Amino acid sequence: MALQLGDTVPDFTQESQLGPINLYDFGADHWVVLFSHPADYTPVCTTELGEVAKLRPEWDKRNVKTLALSVDSAESHQGWIADINDTQKTTVDYPILADSDRRVSELYGMIHPNALNNLTVRSVFIIDPNKKLRLQITYPASTGRNFAEILRVIDSLQLTDNYQVATPVNWKEGEDCVVVPSIPTDAAREKFPKGVTEVRPYLRLTPQPNK
Ligand code: BEZ
Repeated sequence: MALQLGDTVPDFTQESQLGPINLYDFGADHWVVLFSHPADYTPVCTTELGEVAKLRPEWDKRNVKTLALSVDSAESHQGWIADINDTQKTTVDYPILADSDRRVSELYGMIHPNALNNLTVRSVFIIDPNKKLRLQITYPASTGRNFAEILRVIDSLQLTDNYQVATPVNWKEGEDCVVVPSIPTDAAREKFPKGVTEVRPYLRLTPQPNK
């Protein structure tokens, strides 16, 4: 059955260009962004993997480890990474799973045969430190992902976990948040000393708590 939000993600051990990776050990007490791409030495993927490397300070700030996957070999990944580093002016320092036997791809439903025969599409999984699946998005092979959006979702998830606020449409860092429905307005006024604006009894806004 397909993975659903809130599920405990399945563990695996698979080869990478940095040696074998066990997901649970790799994640330990971090968040993990696991993302697949169709194949090595392809143009869109080259830009994506470079961008993920360039965003290293942003991942670190949020306690996130990144883990890529494609169905090519570790040797192929090593050669391709040299190209990514050269063309994208960065250093890919994170593992790319070498899922040649498609074990992880099949476990996580990353192969969509009607879209792309026998290769992985662009799946993204955000996994929290408790190994729960918190987001999954699937992009077509021809569309490079927006990793700023992945970071934005991680910010939102961490705000919810740490402060019991949600984030409204198109929310960006520093903007007002939404008080979660389970907190009554009186309790919210105590919990959020920066103030609570009650637009409607079910729609309460508060300044971002950790700013
Ligand atoms: C790419 O990464 O550039 C790509 C891969 C498969 C289909 C289309 C584009």
